[in-house]
Amino acid sequence: MKKVLVFLLILFVAMQFYRPYENSFVTVEKLDFLIVENVPAPIARIFKNSCYDCHSNQTDYALYDNIAPLSWIVDKNIQRGKFSLNFSKWGTFEPWQRRVFFQGGMMYDININKMPPKNYLLLHPNAKISNIERKQMEAWIATVDLMKE
Ligand code: HEC
Repeated sequence: MKKVLVFLLILFVAMQFYRPYENSFVTVEKLDFLIVENVPAPIARIFKNSCYDCHSNQTDYALYDNIAPLSWIVDKNIQRGKFSLNFSKWGTFEPWQRRVFFQGGMMYDININKMPPKNYLLLHPNAKISNIERKQMEAWIATVDLMKE
C-alpha cells in the first residue's frame, strides 16, 4: 500500500513537468481585437476578463490551472477556443470574417449565455458576465460599423 502511494506521488510530481501546450505566445499589439476595433475601456475590460483566456495568445492562468492533469484539460480547451476565434489575430481577418464573428458568433454566444462556457465558470467565477455587462457588450457591438473594409 505504501509503495503504491509513493509511486502515485512520484507520478503526480513527474506529470507536473509535462506541459506541451501552455498558452503563452508573443502577441502583436496592432493585430489585437481591442486595438483594431478601438474598443472602449469598460467593454475591453469585459473581453479581457471573460474571453481572452481562451481566445487570445496569452492566458492569465489561475494558480490551480497550472497543476496537471487539470492544466492539460485547460490547455486543450484553450486550443479549441483559439481555433474557433483568436482575438490576437483579429487584424488578419477578412472583412467578411469580421462581420461573421461580430454578427453571428459573438452577438449570439453572448446573448444566449454560451460564452464563457459553464464548466469554466465553475473554476473561474470572476469571468462571469453580469446581465448589465451583457447589455453593455451587446449595445457596443450594435454600434460597430460592419461594412468597414
Ligand atoms: C474556457 C474557455 C473559453 C472562454 C473563457 C470563452 N470561450 Fe468562446 N469558445 C471556447 C471554445 C472551446 C469554443 C469552440 C467550441 C464550441 O463552439 O463550443 C469557443 C467558441 C467561440 C466562438 C465561435 C462560435 C461558436 O459558438 O462556436 C465565439 C464567437 C466565442 N467562442 C466567443 C466568446 C466570447 C465573446 C467570450 C467571452 C464572453 C468567450 N468566447 C469566452 C472557449 C471559451
